[in-house]
Amino acid sequence: MTETEALRERALTTLITARDRTTLLTSCVEDPDLTAQHSPLMSPLVWDLAHIGNQEEQWLLRAVGGREAMRPEIDSLYDAFEHPRAERPTLPLLPPAEARLYAAEVRGRVLDLLESTAFHGSRLTEAGFAFGMIAQHEQQHDETMLITHQLRTGPQALTAPDPKPAPLFTGPSEVLVPGGPFTMGTSDEPWALDNERPAHRREVAPFYIDTTPVSNGAYQAFIEDGGYQDERWWTAAGWAHIRKNSIHAPLFWRRDGKQWLRRRFGVTEVVPPDEPVVHVCWYEADAYARWAGRRLPTEAEWEKAARHDPAGNRSTRYPWGDADPAPEHANLGQRHLRPAPVGSYPEGESPLGVRQLIGDVWEWTASDFLPYPGFVAFPYKEYSEVFFGPEYKVLRGGSFAVDPVACRGTFRNWDYPIRRQIFSGFRTARSEAV
Ligand code: AVJ
Ligand code: FE
Repeated sequence: MTETEALRERALTTLITARDRTTLLTSCVEDPDLTAQHSPLMSPLVWDLAHIGNQEEQWLLRAVGGREAMRPEIDSLYDAFEHPRAERPTLPLLPPAEARLYAAEVRGRVLDLLESTAFHGSRLTEAGFAFGMIAQHEQQHDETMLITHQLRTGPQALTAPDPKPAPLFTGPSEVLVPGGPFTMGTSDEPWALDNERPAHRREVAPFYIDTTPVSNGAYQAFIEDGGYQDERWWTAAGWAHIRKNSIHAPLFWRRDGKQWLRRRFGVTEVVPPDEPVVHVCWYEADAYARWAGRRLPTEAEWEKAARHDPAGNRSTRYPWGDADPAPEHANLGQRHLRPAPVGSYPEGESPLGVRQLIGDVWEWTASDFLPYPGFVAFPYKEYSEVFFGPEYKVLRGGSFAVDPVACRGTFRNWDYPIRRQIFSGFRTARSEAV
C-alpha cells in the first residue's frame, strides 16, 4: 500500500466510524426527541446533525474540492457563532428526515472527493488534515450529543456494556514527576489541531500527581465533611456560584437517606464509590483539591505527566508510548457509557505509573486556555483563537465519550469554570516541598 493509499484508508475509516456514531445517537430516539431542546445548554440533536453535514460541506466539498454550496441558504442556521445554543430551537431548522438526507448527500460527494484528492501541496490537504479535522469535528459533536442524551429525561435510549471490573489498584496514590524542561505540544502530529501547536520546551518544577482520577468515594468524603458549606475551600467566584445556584453535589446526584444516587442515561443507580467522579465544575474540582491540602495540576504539569518519558528523555504521543489508542489502553469511544473504576487500564499507564490520563473523564486543570508561543490559527480563527483568554479553563485527556481520533496527549479542551454537564472530573497535584 502506498502512503497515499494508507492515508486515504485512514481518512475513510475515521469518517465512517464517526458517521456510525452519529447515526446511533440520532436514531435511538423518535423525531420529537431530535427536535426538542433537552437543556438550554445544548442544541436540539437535529441541529448537531445538520451542522455536522454543513461543516463537512464547507471544509471538504467547498474549501478542498472547490465545489459550489449545495444549499447556501442554510449556512447561517448552522453557524455556531450566529446563533447561541439556547436560540437554536426557534430557527427554521431542517426537519430530521431532511437533515439526515443532507448529511448523507454531503458524505456521498466527500467519498468521491477523497478518491481524487492528493495529500500534499496545500496545508489543508497535507497528510489528509482536512479529512481528519472533519472526522474529529463530527466526533466532538458526537460527544456533545451524548451530553444531550444524558441531560434528556425519560426512558433509557442508549445501552452499552460496562467496563470489565478492575483488579484492585495497589500502586501508590501519587508519584513524583521530576522537574526540568519537557516538550509540550506538537509540530509533527499530522491531525493535531491548531491550539496543540507548535511543539515548544516548557520548564516544570518537580511536583507530585495523583496516580488515578479522584473517585466518587473520595469526593463523597469531601461532601460529608461539609465541603460545600465551608467557604475556606472555595475561590470567591466559586463560592458565589455554588451559593447562588444551591449546588451541593455533582450534577445528576441526589441524596437518598444515607446514600447517594445518580441518574445516568435514563437509569437511576447508586453512585459507585470506585469510579472517577464526573459532572463536577472547575470550582468544585478546585475546592476539593484545596480541602485535600492539594491543588489542580497546571496544564503543563498534566501534559508532562502524560507524555514525558524519562528513559528516552522525550515526549510520547500517549502515556503508554506512541501507539494509537487500543481498547486495552483506555476507556474511549463510547464503548462504555461510564468511566471505568479508578486504577483500571494498567496497559495505559505512563512510565511513572500514572493511570487513566487518557479516557474515562476529562480532567480539569488549573490553567486558562491560552495560545502556545508561536500559535497560528488554522484553518479558522473560530476553532480556538476566539476562545483564548481567562474565561475558559483547560481540560485534558478525553472522556469515555471521546473517540480516539479526537484524543491525544496534546489534545486541549476548554470550557467555562461553571460547566458540569460535560464528562468532567479531575485529579490533584502538589508541589514538591522545598
Ligand atoms: C473543543 C469541545 C470546546 O464543542 O465547543 C465543535 C469543539 N468546535 N465545533 C465545542 C467544536 C466547533 C468545541 N470544544
Ligand atoms: Fe461544530
